[in-house]
Amino acid sequence: MAAIATFLCLLILTFVPLYSSEYTVVMPDSSSALVDAPQTGFSDRARTDPDEQRAVYAIMEATGNGWATSIPDVCRGRWHGIECMPDTEDVYHVVSLAFGSLSADTAFPTCDLARAGFSPALLALPHLRSLFFYRCFAGGNTRLPEFLGRLGPMLRSLVVRDNELAGGIPEELGNLTGLRVLDLHGNGLSNSVPTSLCRLTRLRLLDLSYNQLNGPLPDFSFPELTVMDVSHNHLQGRIPSSISQCNSLVKIDLSRNLLAGPIPPSLGELTDLILLDLSHNRLSGPFPCSFPNSLTTLLLNSNPMSSATIPEKAFKGMTELNTLVLSNMGLRGPLPESIGELEKLRILYLDGNKFNGSLPRNLMKLEKLSELRVNDNMLAGPIPIGRELVWKMGRKLMVHNNSGLCYDLSNGRYEGMESMSGVKYCQVKSAEGEEGRHATKHYAAAAADTARVNRTPPSASGSSSSDSVPGLGGTLERLVAVAELLFLVTVFL
Ligand SMILES: *[C@@H]1O[C@H](CO)[C@@H](O)[C@H](O)[C@H]1NC(C)=O
Ligand SMILES: *[C@@H]1O[C@H](CO)[C@@H](O)[C@H](O)[C@H]1NC(C)=O
Ligand SMILES: *[C@@H]1O[C@H](CO)[C@@H](O)[C@H](O)[C@H]1NC(C)=O
Repeated sequence: MAAIATFLCLLILTFVPLYSSEYTVVMPDSSSALVDAPQTGFSDRARTDPDEQRAVYAIMEATGNGWATSIPDVCRGRWHGIECMPDTEDVYHVVSLAFGSLSADTAFPTCDLARAGFSPALLALPHLRSLFFYRCFAGGNTRLPEFLGRLGPMLRSLVVRDNELAGGIPEELGNLTGLRVLDLHGNGLSNSVPTSLCRLTRLRLLDLSYNQLNGPLPDFSFPELTVMDVSHNHLQGRIPSSISQCNSLVKIDLSRNLLAGPIPPSLGELTDLILLDLSHNRLSGPFPCSFPNSLTTLLLNSNPMSSATIPEKAFKGMTELNTLVLSNMGLRGPLPESIGELEKLRILYLDGNKFNGSLPRNLMKLEKLSELRVNDNMLAGPIPIGRELVWKMGRKLMVHNNSGLCYDLSNGRYEGMESMSGVKYCQVKSAEGEEGRHATKHYAAAAADTARVNRTPPSASGSSSSDSVPGLGGTLERLVAVAELLFLVTVFL
């Protein structure tokens, strides 16, 4: 329940920039009637502050919205995207401005892409709490002006999404110490993330994703931050261990960067974390000993962990986890049995590693499993999945290219299921006679085939040939190690 509540909060928070702020009222709109009726509920005598009115005209003109200058009072005859609050003297102040057509029913004024720019007149709106630009500037010539840093500590939300901005993030933004939301997603911002941003200690959402930022991540410690997304950049260096001081984090996405070094063990201390995506970086081992039990999604794929093994207890107690992706990490050794205790697991990708040994027997108990990839490993022994689940998963079950996985006949036959093509039956009870012997031979044949396939390419690197190119003897040894398959010994002797 708590997790759901948190997740809802996360969702709401994620959409805060879209619906601007608590002041934004979205009303029906049409191009012929951009102007709404006077705002009701306040005194009829209330008028917009004249300095702010002039500033709004200038800002509107700078974005190609000259039509606004014909509106006698911008707060009374307001449009979607401007929000005002009256003070006790019946003077309206502009608290929120938003530009860009997000969807059919949130039509903020659009910008003239050819000439839109940030107007310094923004500085003449001392009550501004939210500033929002979506697809307003094009051509890659607009920069984030330094003067935005002078918008003052009243500003709570600065959103400049998908605007083809160029240049760096100005250091001066570190002066906006009241910011709760900083969202610069989807621009061409380069250079490093200024350390001055560490001063934004009230941040709740930081989204710098889909830019070209490089250099290291500063030592952020934002106690109220719930969402950190800096994915799809060129960030380098280590994941700062200070990240564990952002102890309200619900979502961390650092994927698709060039981050190196180990995963800081302190990430395990983030007890509210729901999503952790560190995929597609250059992170190295060791594999962490634990993760927060609150996680529902853990994505670590495509990090070269250079033969790290997974500690047996790594996933212990992660009862909320529904997605675990560990593809292409160079991991080796046995799979921890604790994977089979992740009852809510729906997606499990373990493909493209060097896992050996057998699949955890209690995979059988993961009733919610809908996608399983264990292909391209060195696994052997029975695939512990019932026939119904095999059927249900269809092509989302991938088991090919392993040393000797087989299917246990006691789970029923899987004939006609494409995902199992090439997989032999392994079930044999010693007293069973013909059928059993037949199946055993198949299994042996399967193992031999795999061994041959693996041996065919000459070991180009020559590095770990004894591990990755097992002879039939090696394969057999592994099979024998699997308790259920001890009967094979008698067949081969
Ligand atoms: C804003 O920040 C810059 C650099 O971070 C600093 O040099 C400047 O003095 C600050 N300005 C104000 C008005 O605080
Ligand atoms: C798995 O590989 C490791 C070496 O990486 C080896 O020591 C171990 O015996 C193998 N386990 C099995 C079950 O084959
Ligand atoms: C089989 O899996 C291994 C990883 O265990 C990989 O290196 C190899 O390229 C795969 N073979 C094929 C034919 O895909």
